[in-house]
Amino acid sequence: MNTKILLVLICNFQRMKTLHSHVSTSIFIFILSLLYPFRSLAIDTITPSQPLTINQTLVSKGEFFELGFFNPGNNNLYIGIWYKRIQHKTYVWVANRDNPITSSSGNLTIANNGNMVLVNQTGTTVWSTNQPTKMVKTVAQLLDNGNFVLRPENDENPENYIWQSFNYPTDTLLPEMKLGWDRKSGIHRFLRPWKTINDPATGDYSFRMNLNGFPEVLLKHNETITWRTGPWNGKRFSGAPAMKGASIMQFEFTDNSDEINYSFKLLNSSIYSRLIINSSGINERYVWVETTKAWKIYWTFPVNVCDHYSTCGPFGVCDANAIPICKCMTGFQPKNKEAWDDVIHGFVGCVRSSKLDCGSDGFLPMKNMKLPESSKAFVDRKMNLSECGEICKRNCSCAAYANMNITDGGSGCVIWDGDLIDMRQYAESEDGGQAQDLYVRVSDLDTKLIEEPTTTKDNGSKVGKIVGISISTAFVVLICLLILFYLKRKKTQSWNREGPQERAEDIILNNGVILPSRRDYHSDTVMDVLELPLFDFTTLAVATNNFADTNKLGQGGFGCVYKGTLPGGEIIAVKRLSSVCAQGVEELKNEVRLIAKLQHRNLVRVLGCCIEVEEKLLVYEFMENKSLDTFLFDKEKSMKLNWKIRLENILGTARGLHYLHHDSRFKIIHRDMKASNILLDKEMNPRISDFGIARIFGSDQTEAETKIVVGTYGYMSPEYAMEGHFSTKSDVFSFGVLILEIVSGKRNRGSFNTSNKMNLLGQAWTLWNEGNALELLDESLGTKYSKNEVLRCIQVGLLCVQGQPEDRPSMSKVLLLLSSETVRMPQPKHPGLITRNINNETESPNINDDPMTTNGITMSILDGR
Ligand SMILES: *[C@@H]1O[C@H](CO)[C@@H](O)[C@H](O)[C@H]1NC(C)=O
Ligand SMILES: *[C@@H]1O[C@H](CO)[C@@H](O)[C@H](O)[C@H]1NC(C)=O
Ligand SMILES: *[C@@H]1O[C@H](CO)[C@@H](O)[C@H](O)[C@H]1NC(C)=O
Ligand SMILES: *[C@@H]1O[C@H](CO)[C@@H](O)[C@H](O)[C@H]1NC(C)=O
Repeated sequence: MNTKILLVLICNFQRMKTLHSHVSTSIFIFILSLLYPFRSLAIDTITPSQPLTINQTLVSKGEFFELGFFNPGNNNLYIGIWYKRIQHKTYVWVANRDNPITSSSGNLTIANNGNMVLVNQTGTTVWSTNQPTKMVKTVAQLLDNGNFVLRPENDENPENYIWQSFNYPTDTLLPEMKLGWDRKSGIHRFLRPWKTINDPATGDYSFRMNLNGFPEVLLKHNETITWRTGPWNGKRFSGAPAMKGASIMQFEFTDNSDEINYSFKLLNSSIYSRLIINSSGINERYVWVETTKAWKIYWTFPVNVCDHYSTCGPFGVCDANAIPICKCMTGFQPKNKEAWDDVIHGFVGCVRSSKLDCGSDGFLPMKNMKLPESSKAFVDRKMNLSECGEICKRNCSCAAYANMNITDGGSGCVIWDGDLIDMRQYAESEDGGQAQDLYVRVSDLDTKLIEEPTTTKDNGSKVGKIVGISISTAFVVLICLLILFYLKRKKTQSWNREGPQERAEDIILNNGVILPSRRDYHSDTVMDVLELPLFDFTTLAVATNNFADTNKLGQGGFGCVYKGTLPGGEIIAVKRLSSVCAQGVEELKNEVRLIAKLQHRNLVRVLGCCIEVEEKLLVYEFMENKSLDTFLFDKEKSMKLNWKIRLENILGTARGLHYLHHDSRFKIIHRDMKASNILLDKEMNPRISDFGIARIFGSDQTEAETKIVVGTYGYMSPEYAMEGHFSTKSDVFSFGVLILEIVSGKRNRGSFNTSNKMNLLGQAWTLWNEGNALELLDESLGTKYSKNEVLRCIQVGLLCVQGQPEDRPSMSKVLLLLSSETVRMPQPKHPGLITRNINNETESPNINDDPMTTNGITMSILDGR
């Protein structure tokens, strides 16, 4: 409309003033119309003469964002900005979040003093940009990056904003928006969530840059810190490894005399991504997926127990993959030993093992650390690490020091005194090789501790030995193969001279001797398999006494497992796939492919494999205590499982499964979680094993379907058993069954009998609702257990076995629920697959378990569909 009026005016003006030929006038109009493409409906500006009324919206030039009135579902009106092209309304900014219009109408207009004001039906101002504008004529414009700006109407510099929405974020950080401080003007930009999903009022959390000490971003609930990003180390925040650059976006951290900001930009303009703080105080990054027309979560924080602020107390270091998750730094010991051993009752921190003597103290480097809370840290940008160390050594109150910036070999100096709080140690892989080391002051006595060999070193040399053996074995095998190949080639050449020239490695691969064929797998997986040590069959046959029955440890899904001793004395477990089972080879390849890439202390480690024409074998580390079921369901042996061991089995298994679902490079669904697949090491620590039927999910895949339902009855979730749908939530179900079995010492399916038609889940549910949940507990535990811990485990178990997959918690939630007393526990809903009508059993074609699963063997059910 604007444009049309303008054109008419100009046109008349031209005619009246100059009376030029019609031709030149129409050329002029033509050119003008090119400059102003018709946007009669979509306007992006508000002018003093043209306010925005209730049923109008502004649309940015490129139609990326839209601004207007909206009602989020609480019957109030707000001015907000949302994505124009995304149907599912996603609000990225709200003007009057705490002052809604409660009447049915209002106007957004420009007042006489140049400020933008929002008035309600009665003409009362509910919101205003409230800037000193010196009475200039202004216009407000919605830009393509989502910024809503107020600027002088005629200014040479279009970026001379009087006010802009990017300076007043609500809960969303868009690309190009800044989170932090403008040091000159004092403008502080930070995020605060909506109060609830349909109330944009300011919530209790905030996500803001803390300027004190070594700056970092803090997530707070009112005044309490719930998560720290850790300081920026030049590449990323030291406590948020996931927040690193990716192919689609780039992060920026600016820290100079003008400003200190965190921001990001997208490298492809057709991608939408935003970072928000949600009402429950979770920092989430979303990416819009056009194919599914939905927002996908890219990461969330805090994600595990170790992210929660100061989980381990002063001088404690959190490691989500360790048991217990907290440890004291070298030179420190638990402040309260009893509390420390009692995993659930939290960690109150550590104290020095020996007194410091200022002169002779030393410094221990700690690798891959999330730096301690830094608001009181001393910072010097110019010093290098050795100068930093000198300063710290001289000043007795200095507790630790580190580089500020780890890029280009490191620079800058940070010094902490007093307690060191909220540290984490990352596994090398988690950290993407961008290590941040922290140097901690300890007494001279304690620096000597590190000279002694530690257990990890010990393991290292063992592994080294095995790798050494296997590499030489592999070398011999390879040479033999090459000779074979040469001979074979010579033979074939005589009659097939013209045949396609295959490369040597292809032939080795395709002869099926070592590897899955190239057609099935990407070449990178082929490489991954090659990285795994190869054993030759004879070695393994000798090691296991020719697979003697006396060496047999047990029977897995697709073959037997034997104990073996390598020539060097190393004890191993060898899984030999049954030759009768045609499926076995694929399963083995699957297992090798998967497990070679997984490293976690609660997963069983594979040491190598052997795939020869007739034989397929996998070599694992040997687990002294066999599997959990051999203890759990045995009257006598179950006495050995005291409550502490049971609890650690629950926690450890949860950690391993969490790693599979969320922390490894892939999303892996195990599909056969059960007591017999939990192996126990010398210290009775649990290790998840048997990845024969595990599935890798793409990173944005949440569910899959299969026609071949494979698993173990009693552990299978209803949606998997009935419809073949599996997801992380079907593993969570099995894990829930496992918790209840560990607590009760009974098999889930084992409790069918004539007098009691309910299985373990049904019993647990009934007892829970009667308030008698403790009756579920294994009698062999006597009175030596913590009531709270037992109840907590039962509740988590019941949450995991809920009938609806979406009700079940994720494994990260499970870990949180299991290890924190302060988290609110949801009430479980009805579990899935409680009762089974004994009479109808034969009518259920999908579950026909009895002959196959009485001894806990994994079975396959071929569905007729
Ligand atoms: C909003 O503006 C329109 C057009 O200028 C006007 O007709 C209407 O009365 C205004 N409404 C309110 C509530 O101010
Ligand atoms: C940007 O993303 C779109 C959609 O994913 C893709 O089709 C396009 O090739 C990408 N462009 C660049 C330059 O990467
Ligand atoms: C906040 O985000 C977390 C993680 O994505 C999610 O589980 C939770 O339901 C969200 N809370 C709300 C109120 O949306
Ligand atoms: C030692 O460090 C403390 C805290 O960082 C500081 O207050 C004090 O001035 C320092 N003392 C000397 C002598 O540098």
